[in-house]
This record gives sequence, structure tokens and C-alpha cells, in this order.
Amino acid sequence: MPVIAKVNGKPVSFNADPDTPLLWAIREELGMTGTKFGCGIAACGACSVHVDGVVTRSCSVPVSDVAGKSITTIEGLSGADGTLHALQAAWIAHQVPQCGYCQSGQLMAAAALLAATPKPTDAQIDEAMTNICRCGTYPRIRAAIHAAAGQG
Ligand code: FES
Ligand code: FES
Repeated sequence: MPVIAKVNGKPVSFNADPDTPLLWAIREELGMTGTKFGCGIAACGACSVHVDGVVTRSCSVPVSDVAGKSITTIEGLSGADGTLHALQAAWIAHQVPQCGYCQSGQLMAAAALLAATPKPTDAQIDEAMTNICRCGTYPRIRAAIHAAAGQG
């Protein structure tokens, strides 16, 4: 039985084995490779997407768990007309990425944070942003979140 869900607002049908991690269903079945594989054990956050608005580490969620749910990936963070999310614009302005590998997940975590807490404090940012960046971009991530806060 395919798993029916929505990805970035569009209905999709996943045909993978129900135990397949959502990450691989997104990357391999949908060909959306913006969501990255880092650790595979829900420890690094590189694979973060939103499931019904909740930031979720897709490497550790079976695709069967998202039946009937609405998923947003990094490809769906900008507006339908291509307008960047305020965080994406701030990421560019603050030149946040270094190698870039972790940054899709960082943006998805930050977007969930701002949706719940539009003007987060440093402490709230530190609490919410548990994704790992091997390049140490944490100070720029924090600055960009502050810049984007309250802008939508
Ligand atoms: S790849 Fe999913 S948390 Fe690291
Ligand atoms: S920018 Fe390289 S791992 Fe984060």
C-alpha cells in the first residue's frame, strides 16, 4: 500500500517499504536532495524537515508514520513564487554557510523556532538549535536568526 502524504503542498504517493526512513523516500523517490544524510541516528539534524509543522529528523522516522501528514522540505521553504523565506535572506546576508552540508537542516530547525517563537532570545535559540555544524557556523546562525526574527 503506498503511503499518501503531502510534500511542499503537493500530494505524493510513497511506494517504498513502510519501514524506509522518510529521508530516503524524500531523496530517492521524490528526487529532492536538499535534505541531507549525516548520522542516520537522529543526532545531527542534517535531515530535518517539518511534519505537520514540527521539526523532525527524517532519518529516524519510517515513511509509514507520515501517512496523511503534511511535510515541508528545504525545497518548500521559500514561497511558491520563489520569494525567499526571511531566514534564507538572512542566511545570505550573514554569509552563514561554510561547507553548507548542515545548512538545510539548520534552516528548517530555525524556521520551526521562529514559527513558535517569533523573537527568540539567545537562550531560546541555543535550546532550539541542536543541529550540529562541523564548520562551527553557530555564531552566524544565531545572528541570522535574530536578523530574520519578526520579519515573517
Ligand atoms: S541524518 Fe538525521 S539526524 Fe543526522
Ligand atoms: S556549514 Fe559545514 S557542516 Fe555546517
